Amino acid sequence: MTQLSAAAEPGRDAGKTPDSSKALYGGKSTRRITVRDLTVAKERGEKWPMLTAYDAMTASVFDEAGIPVMLVGDSMGNVHLGYETTVPVTLDEMTMLSAAVVRGTKRALIVGDLPFGTYQEGPVQALRSAMRLVKDAGVGAVKLEGGERSHRQIELLVESGIPVMAHIGLTPQSVNTMGYRVQGRGEEAAQQLLRDAKAVQDAGAFAVVLELVPAELAAEVTRVLHIPTVGIGAGAACDAQVLVSTDMLGLTGGKMPRFVKQYAQLRSVMTDAARAFADEVVGGTFPAEEHSVH
Ligand code: KIV
Repeated sequence: MTQLSAAAEPGRDAGKTPDSSKALYGGKSTRRITVRDLTVAKERGEKWPMLTAYDAMTASVFDEAGIPVMLVGDSMGNVHLGYETTVPVTLDEMTMLSAAVVRGTKRALIVGDLPFGTYQEGPVQALRSAMRLVKDAGVGAVKLEGGERSHRQIELLVESGIPVMAHIGLTPQSVNTMGYRVQGRGEEAAQQLLRDAKAVQDAGAFAVVLELVPAELAAEVTRVLHIPTVGIGAGAACDAQVLVSTDMLGLTGGKMPRFVKQYAQLRSVMTDAARAFADEVVGGTFPAEEHSVH
């Protein structure tokens, strides 16, 4: 079996015990995960995790932990660059941090977010922006927001050989028109979400993020689509789940959205370490003899 065909062939494995060495999480792989692996995972009913990453060191930790897909999200605006929203993030910033994440990883598929204002003008602008992330940063796929309204952009990118992850439901780049509200509530909004989901699939997206969508609706979208759904605040039925890594690690300050689960409390660990260092410097106990050179 060649490396490129290391993921299970659809149909070929039907009825057999799943081979755990091919799993996206916990599986063995000597190459990058590809979008084809994610398609096959949906066919096998295998769920997978995605985390955001914005720097080489954190990305290398997640890669060692076996996280198969990392998103260089434009959430970098809020969590790393100190902006209030994702709106000001630029393509230069995205390219620089995406390249760092690619350099820090060996196995994960790296998805780079197209920032606000870099694809809304139309397919050609989207292609030019996506090309930068693919050629200069080395990402394996890009993500953009919008369902029906972005289908022409998705079509051209996919035709041009760039895999696209779509993002519907709450789309934070539209905060100025949409706010940060649950999407898809009520019959009309639910029908629109389903149309958006089908539009991005028909345009060729390989996966779709569903953000802040009622769990029952996300489950229906997941049932109807043949591409994987990646939930964030969209219930347990999605094929994959994503969290902003600084939220999940307990590094982000302030109140967390209900859908965030914190698996660590790194903010207090870092605060304690910084205070211990400062106390020792002020008290004259650091550096000690073993930290000194003669
Ligand atoms: O930018 C981001 O981190 C995202 C995820 C929340 C999906 O778009």
